Amino acid sequence: MKENIKTTFSSAFEEDVHIGLSTYPKYLLSKYIYDKKGDKLFQDIMNLPEYYLTNCEFNILKDHTSEITEIFKSDKGFDLIELGAGDGKKTKLLLKELVAQKIHFNYLPIDISENVLLELEDSLKKEIPEVQVKIQQGTYFKTLEKLSDYNTRKKVILVLGSNIGNLLHTDAIDFLKHIQIAMSDEDMLFMGFDQKKDPEIILEAYNDKTGVTAAFNKNLLARINSELGGNFNLETFSHWETYDPESGTAKSFLVSREEQNVSIESLGIDIHFDAWETIHTEISQKYDDAVVEWLAEEAGLKVTHSFVDEKKYYKNYIFKKQ
Ligand code: AVI
Repeated sequence: MKENIKTTFSSAFEEDVHIGLSTYPKYLLSKYIYDKKGDKLFQDIMNLPEYYLTNCEFNILKDHTSEITEIFKSDKGFDLIELGAGDGKKTKLLLKELVAQKIHFNYLPIDISENVLLELEDSLKKEIPEVQVKIQQGTYFKTLEKLSDYNTRKKVILVLGSNIGNLLHTDAIDFLKHIQIAMSDEDMLFMGFDQKKDPEIILEAYNDKTGVTAAFNKNLLARINSELGGNFNLETFSHWETYDPESGTAKSFLVSREEQNVSIESLGIDIHFDAWETIHTEISQKYDDAVVEWLAEEAGLKVTHSFVDEKKYYKNYIFKKQ
């Protein structure tokens, strides 16, 4: 019987789910984890004792605040542009120091979530009212295009949280290239990169005992159920994490514990799963200096400074144009 293959989609989410679940091996894109519930689960992950990334980066910024702000500052003032600002907890360390030193700057946090930005703006008003803040809602891609509009004085672009780790190296280079193109010679990029370390520590960070990361990963299926009329039974899927210490790639999967069919109403399809069949959902790349320098080189950037935490788990690098 001829299958009725859908060719028009009402959203990118619909289309990407259709492609990812009709391919072998199956995959889903991790960016779709982040709806309201996904954002909340990620906040919970950042508070987990196993998820060391947040604390390590916080400690780097706390221990090197004056050194970092000294590098950022410029006689004519500067624009501090943060991509994926979140709750700004780490950035506030820098903002407080800049204010204390009476350095002229504007803070321009950019995030996909309007809600997150309004909360950040509100908390800044209360905690550091001296900061000139201008929030901007948008996707990374759109905002990268807008970056070059800020070209009247030095810009410092902040990308914290090792968000780059969710990209394959080719996409990471592309992302860095877009930033590089928008930069002038005096501009700087300050970015966090989670480092290669004991594989056990990495596996625990992505497979916490309380199951928050499992719920975060399964939120992809929950979203398909609520937004696309899917009937995934979340109980029949297990969260599974792997880490390859050679490539530095942590991978998240959802594994079907039984043979089953799942229907997705808005796509008009039934998806068959063999028992133990996988859906690849996310990569979280871990780095070393050689790989970071290679990515920078490929993107037309060079590393000028780096800061590491006490345990050497995480590094923040400063890049300039080559
Ligand atoms: C947002 N990103 C950098 C997180 C990471 O570490 O890859 C997302 C995450 N996935 C599972 N835990 C946290």
